[in-house]
Amino acid sequence: MKRFDFVIIGSGIAGLSLALKAARHGTVAIVTKGARAESNTRYAQGGIACVTSAEDSFELHVADTLDAGAGLCDEDVVRSIVTDGPARIRELIEAGVHFDERELEQGASVAELDLGREGGHSRRRILHSRDVTGREIEEALLRAVGVNPEIVMLENHIAIDLITLRKLGHVSADRCLGVYVLDEASGNVLTLRSDRIVLASGGCGKVYLYTTNPAVATGDGLAMAWRAGARIANMEFIQFHPTCLYHPDAGSFLVSEAVRGEGARLIDAKGLQFMAKYDPRLELAPRDIVARAIDAEMKRTGAKCVYLDISHKPAEFVRSRFPNIYETCLKYGIDITRDPIPVVPAAHYQCGGVLTDANGSSSLAGLSAIGEVACTGLHGANRLASNSLLEAVVLAHRCCEILAAQSVPSESAWPVELPEWVSSEMHDVDELVVIYHNWDEIRRLMWDYVGIVRTTKRLQRAATRLRNLQSEIQEFYWNFKITTDLLELRNLATVAGLIVDCALLRKESRGLHFTLDYPGTNERFRRNTIVQLN
Ligand code: FAD
Ligand code: SIN
Repeated sequence: MKRFDFVIIGSGIAGLSLALKAARHGTVAIVTKGARAESNTRYAQGGIACVTSAEDSFELHVADTLDAGAGLCDEDVVRSIVTDGPARIRELIEAGVHFDERELEQGASVAELDLGREGGHSRRRILHSRDVTGREIEEALLRAVGVNPEIVMLENHIAIDLITLRKLGHVSADRCLGVYVLDEASGNVLTLRSDRIVLASGGCGKVYLYTTNPAVATGDGLAMAWRAGARIANMEFIQFHPTCLYHPDAGSFLVSEAVRGEGARLIDAKGLQFMAKYDPRLELAPRDIVARAIDAEMKRTGAKCVYLDISHKPAEFVRSRFPNIYETCLKYGIDITRDPIPVVPAAHYQCGGVLTDANGSSSLAGLSAIGEVACTGLHGANRLASNSLLEAVVLAHRCCEILAAQSVPSESAWPVELPEWVSSEMHDVDELVVIYHNWDEIRRLMWDYVGIVRTTKRLQRAATRLRNLQSEIQEFYWNFKITTDLLELRNLATVAGLIVDCALLRKESRGLHFTLDYPGTNERFRRNTIVQLN
């Protein structure tokens, strides 16, 4: 058993930002299941929303966030995160993040930041580093973490489960005490003990067949928190990004909303713009509206995709503002300075998550959650573009302040030593095919039955099938030696179940949850959907 003052699960923007601050107060372990840079953060394109210009204001950013959130945001949380933004941005810049600047105007001596625009924003307020903002942030934070002697990085280590008092047999109180972690290389399971366990484990895009998320986004942190008895909220609100490149060899490559922010138009196969039928804000309506409009157009015309066209803008501007998108599309034979880009919606972001307060504290003592895994109340029923990176840095800061100031209860209340992991040594290679089959089945089932447009019947069908899959997977978990694949599959099945459960509880359409059986909003459901394992 190893002890640390802080154990952080995840090395995206949330985990790394927290680690750098926590290291001023004690020893820190970062557990990350792949290579250290692999995370949703690394792929973020558009940028980070923050009020920095004289034409903008905190109140406008608050209003845009509340509008996108469709009545479910916590206004106090929104206001506090938005107002804390500039201080956290300054820290990112001090850590070495470079945001693009505008060309100096005549007579000006200080360059201003170049601000992008995205759907739902009434002003230009997105700080960015060309179209690879996430990579720029991730690399700068990793450089800083790499030279910090207080921080131990456990790469290729996957967190399996949280250790709680309740799981150890205590009935009168509960608290998170540590976490079991599988070292992929050796197959050994480590026991990490800490009074401050923080989930910064990102989202769950991989639960859907088509997603913008990388392979690590399997909802592990959420599933662990659920099994540990923490409260989970609003998992029905899965955000589908409207414009993912549609090409058989492209995997899931995002075409940033910033492209629409610079004037790109959505058109059908005949070259006709269609957004006017759906929202007066056209291509810059909030994401839920644009994704549903594309879905409706594809269903109406039977087309496999729609197109995003920025070819009317000067080629040099397009190439320099979106170099990554330009190069990637060119690899697939699409010159975006001349050709429209084939696009489809894909699962992108979980707006719900582990329910926390405005400092990242979950309902389980000793456990915090920050970044995409958490549900703070900022996003409500639909996240405003580029508010996610902002939330992650703001919450990392607050979480550190709170944890560093907390007095840790006396250890006599619970065991100091935690039991070692007991592993099953059986391993039947023949059965691996079942793991891959179940994995594919969950992702397809979620895409077909729990997608952009839902019905109660389809949700119920998904619930029944998921229950069977969950018990099959649970049997594997107990009877075979654990691997990363098996752990991820178990977590995917849990998260899929939670999305369906939450969706069935919401008998209305709001934000990202749209069901044909209840097509309107209903005031009775203007509240969070909260679920918890008994
Ligand atoms: P992540 O960056 O996803 O990091 C999670 C970490 O946890 C990873 O290191 C992962 O390996 C690790 N992990 C997970 N499970 C385990 C486990 N069991 N054990 C150990 N480690 C584990 N948002 C914006 O605001 N602006 C944008 O422009 C933007 N663009 C995006 C573009 C794309 C293509 C994608 C996919 C997302 C984008 N988002 C954007 C969303 C944003 O990138 C994410 O919400 C944000 O980066 C999440 O940060 P995080 O630190 O919470 O999680
Ligand atoms: C994008 O660049 O379109 C993604 C922005 C986001 O998800 O916030």
